[in-house]
Amino acid sequence: MAPIGIFDSGFGGLSIFREIHRLLPDYDYIFLGDNARAPYGDRSFQEVFDFTNQAVRRLFAMGCPLVILACNTASAKALRNIQQNELPLMDDPTRRVLGVIRPTVERVANLTYSGHIGLVATRATVSSRSYDMELAHLADSLRLTSHACPQWVPLIERGLMSSPELRREVKADLAALLAADPDIDTIILGCTHYPLITSVIQQALQELDHPEIILMPQGKPVSYALQDYLRRHTEMECRISRGGQTQFCTTGDVATFERLGTLFLGHEESIRAVQITI
Ligand code: DGL
Repeated sequence: MAPIGIFDSGFGGLSIFREIHRLLPDYDYIFLGDNARAPYGDRSFQEVFDFTNQAVRRLFAMGCPLVILACNTASAKALRNIQQNELPLMDDPTRRVLGVIRPTVERVANLTYSGHIGLVATRATVSSRSYDMELAHLADSLRLTSHACPQWVPLIERGLMSSPELRREVKADLAALLAADPDIDTIILGCTHYPLITSVIQQALQELDHPEIILMPQGKPVSYALQDYLRRHTEMECRISRGGQTQFCTTGDVATFERLGTLFLGHEESIRAVQITI
């Protein structure tokens, strides 16, 4: 078995996996959530790098030749370092790691009319300025306004998706973002956890009198970028096994992962997971 590995700090990567699996259902996958150590969003650069590096190495050891960091925080803080400094030193330097930021930025430029883009993300992602730098490469006429939302992920990881506390936080954070730039017409959901609360975000935009704002989740751009990558890299594509199987792994509590994971994926049957250490 040589599955595609998909990694996130916790449940957020399921929003990416859902779209990848929809587009490319024939491949095998291993999903790994580091729920025991989530959230990553307020952790130091070194911690995010170390945890991500450990997870990537674990997925490689489980047979994955290709790993997707389905996490903006890990993509912002660890991807380049792993690609440039870790991979070349490994026993098999032909394995690859891909992130979520580049595919998102390539797509968002086609969605905005005003050229004013908002970004909601973790503190780590916002402070990395990765989105600013990627967007600047593409088109310097686009204006990005970023806002960190440190309370969203902890509440989602605890399963409190429809709590009044989360609704309050979401509305306050979006109000702050729109106050900073009232011409924003497109908001990047720059944390893979956020599509799991799309209805809460839409409701907040309604209440703020901005129902017209386009929300941009990352599942579709990332899944089409993966399809494109595999078409262009046939030497990698032929290494991936095609059994249509997915193994879900968590570093946290299995019962909680199975309950919330099933909910987030919208599966009728409960997903099964195993606990692993990384
Ligand atoms: N879902 C992740 C992201 O896209 C990480 C969130 C966190 O662990 O704080 O940034």
